[in-house]
Amino acid sequence: MRRKLVVGNWKMHGSHPANAELLAGILGARPFNTDVAVCVPFPYLSETAVTLAGSELRWGAQDVSAHEQGAYTGEVSAAMLAEFGCRYAIVGHSERRAYHAESDQLVADKAKAALARGVTPIVCVGETLQQREAGETEAVVKRQLSAVIHTLTHCIGEIVVAYEPVWAIGTGRTASPEQAQQVHALLRAQLLAATPHAADMRLLYGGSVKPDNAATLFAQADIDGGLIGGAALKAADFAAICRAAE
Ligand code: 13P
Repeated sequence: MRRKLVVGNWKMHGSHPANAELLAGILGARPFNTDVAVCVPFPYLSETAVTLAGSELRWGAQDVSAHEQGAYTGEVSAAMLAEFGCRYAIVGHSERRAYHAESDQLVADKAKAALARGVTPIVCVGETLQQREAGETEAVVKRQLSAVIHTLTHCIGEIVVAYEPVWAIGTGRTASPEQAQQVHALLRAQLLAATPHAADMRLLYGGSVKPDNAATLFAQADIDGGLIGGAALKAADFAAICRAAE
């Protein structure tokens, strides 16, 4: 039985007072009978680590460099993240693929760099509306995941995968539970062909997950939790989504 995982992706939101209030709200809503993490902007990683220390809540980054170290201005290495206890790093979020032209191979290299330092990559895949309407959903997500499978080889079972249809992100237009399950089943089958551990891997759904739709999404056979954007910025909503995963 896979334990569910709910991850808040704060994106580029936050401030010292707002973070303190949000984290206090989430901490106050515990205990959760599910794994919970927040992925916060780089400057807030350290204070998040301090605030969550001693709790079962985990924290992570929203990106990581594919490089070990060196002349890469503005980048943050997996070793730096690992140094102070970072558990997760989101890689290949569609916003990074779209606005920073991240290729499938770069995303795979980032996942490899994270794993090498014991930081679990949450690898995002997902199709645009145009690709869905052209019937390309399966081909797109398989191509995105395939790059990661080929790069990580025998370590592929150690990642978390997040299916985030681009058309459902921040739009209020959630994939139906059936639509999401269909893609999750495809991804699980692709992983099963690559690793005997695929049955234990967690596949998250992301895209307009809210307290009122989370339970039906999480009830699907291959949906093992969520990657939450907007609703992760309100403690009550995020806590309600975590409850829906219990
Ligand atoms: P929303 O929940 O705001 O649609 O964002 C989803 C997402 O991109 C999480 O990574």
